[in-house]
Amino acid sequence: MEKQHMSRRHFLAASGAIAGTSLINPLDGLKAAPVIHQPNPLKKKRVALIGTGSRGVGMWGRDLVKGYPDYLEFVGLCDHNAGRLATGKRLMGVDCPTYTDFEQMMREAKPDMLIVCTVDATHHSFIVRAMELGVEVITEKPMSVDETKIQAILDAEKRTGKNCRVTFNYRYSPHRVKMWELLREGAIGELTSVDFHWYLDTSHGADYFRRWHRLVEQSGSLWVHKATHHFDLLNWWIESDPESVYALGALDWYGKNGSFRSTNCRSCPHTQKCDFYFDIMKNDYYKQLYVDNEQYDGYHRDGCVFREDVNIYDKMAATIKYMNGVQVSYSLTAYSPYEGYRIAFNGTKGRIDAWIEESRPQNDVNYDQIVLFRNFSRREYIQIPFSSSGHGGGDKLLQDQIFIPGTADPYKQCAGVRDGALSCLVGIAARKSIASGQPVKIGSLTTIDPQVEKQYTRIV
Ligand SMILES: NC(=O)c1ccc[n+]([C@@H]2O[C@H](COP(=O)([O-])OP(=O)(O)OC[C@H]3O[C@@H](n4cnc5c(N)ncnc54)[C@H](O)[C@@H]3O)[C@@H](O)[C@H]2O)c1
Repeated sequence: MEKQHMSRRHFLAASGAIAGTSLINPLDGLKAAPVIHQPNPLKKKRVALIGTGSRGVGMWGRDLVKGYPDYLEFVGLCDHNAGRLATGKRLMGVDCPTYTDFEQMMREAKPDMLIVCTVDATHHSFIVRAMELGVEVITEKPMSVDETKIQAILDAEKRTGKNCRVTFNYRYSPHRVKMWELLREGAIGELTSVDFHWYLDTSHGADYFRRWHRLVEQSGSLWVHKATHHFDLLNWWIESDPESVYALGALDWYGKNGSFRSTNCRSCPHTQKCDFYFDIMKNDYYKQLYVDNEQYDGYHRDGCVFREDVNIYDKMAATIKYMNGVQVSYSLTAYSPYEGYRIAFNGTKGRIDAWIEESRPQNDVNYDQIVLFRNFSRREYIQIPFSSSGHGGGDKLLQDQIFIPGTADPYKQCAGVRDGALSCLVGIAARKSIASGQPVKIGSLTTIDPQVEKQYTRIV
């Protein structure tokens, strides 16, 4: 296929967003795009939450109760762990009814909006049902874990005419928005390739191997659970759909590679010699949510990272080709000494480089730095101050856009079913490529037909 770069004209068409004074109209050129409806400004939104674990009770529970009392009220909470459900309600400080039966909650609580915060492999069933009931639905990432479940969501979208917002908070971090702006303004000419390497450390990275995330059938593996963020960023930065993926992966460090193991840290005889010993009793939030409710489902939040049943990779690499000809070299390593990422965007007129350390930054700085190299010119250092709220300030900006009526979307950060699907499908294709040893075409997985130009979700 002939190579089709993102055109200079295309960069410049969007660059009005960057100057700040002349923001682009987010609806321009998006008339046929999928739509997320904004809330009625005169009415408090009736919100129901399914999944009262750490994320549900935190960002989508307590934070909303505190931050948006004029815009929403909780009318129902649901979780299949009755103990965690009661704890979640207490920690959120709400007095709405609680349910262990999802259908009963939807019938009795009659929410306007459902927020889905359960284990990844279960998201699709709640998304589809909410769409069928005509309820606005917000889901945590990843939207789903395999192509069959994604197809079920696509079919429900077609059948019901409803969309589902996927909460890609990574799009909202100020330094990533700056990268999007630089690409749109043509700072490096036409984008031709991206080098993107993500490192999870031996603390946060190891944590995925302690929990349900260690099972591909629950999380889709880190290719989907974690990398859905990274593939969504790529789709958004590159502004085109992924075409094909060739991948490699292995489990080199956790799981069966350990020389000793137990079921979980509290019952382990090897704590003195284990670098991964985690004393969950020192974290009161986790103790209340998980340890105190083990009797209901037997789930250990402090599971052993060396359990034999770990069936996800901890070392992954992929080559991704985009419909506009951009090529990506991607990797994810889950046992690094520090957490963060290195990225470079290569273009016809220069290169954008960044090394973002999310843990253990070497210098005492309060900004993220991007270096812009223009060919035959001096380099430019661009410093973007840290923000105080979660995920580089992204979490709060995302919540504002969802709950405060009239919040604009100048950087096209609103993500719907198509974005949720395409970000997962890259990881699903990577899994299939490892299994077959062959490149996998994204268009072969679901009814989504990848396009040269990305289709944005618009807010109306
Ligand atoms: N965007 C981000 O940065 C971010 C960060 C953390 C978590 N997340 C996402 O949030 C979601 C929840 O993650 P978490 O860390 O809170 O996990 P968790 O294990 O703490 O919570 C999941 C909850 O869902 C409940 N649950 C699971 N299956 C259920 C079912 N079928 N019916 C009812 N309840 C069910 C569990 O009992 C548990 O309380 C995941 O999809 C995860 O990917 C996103």
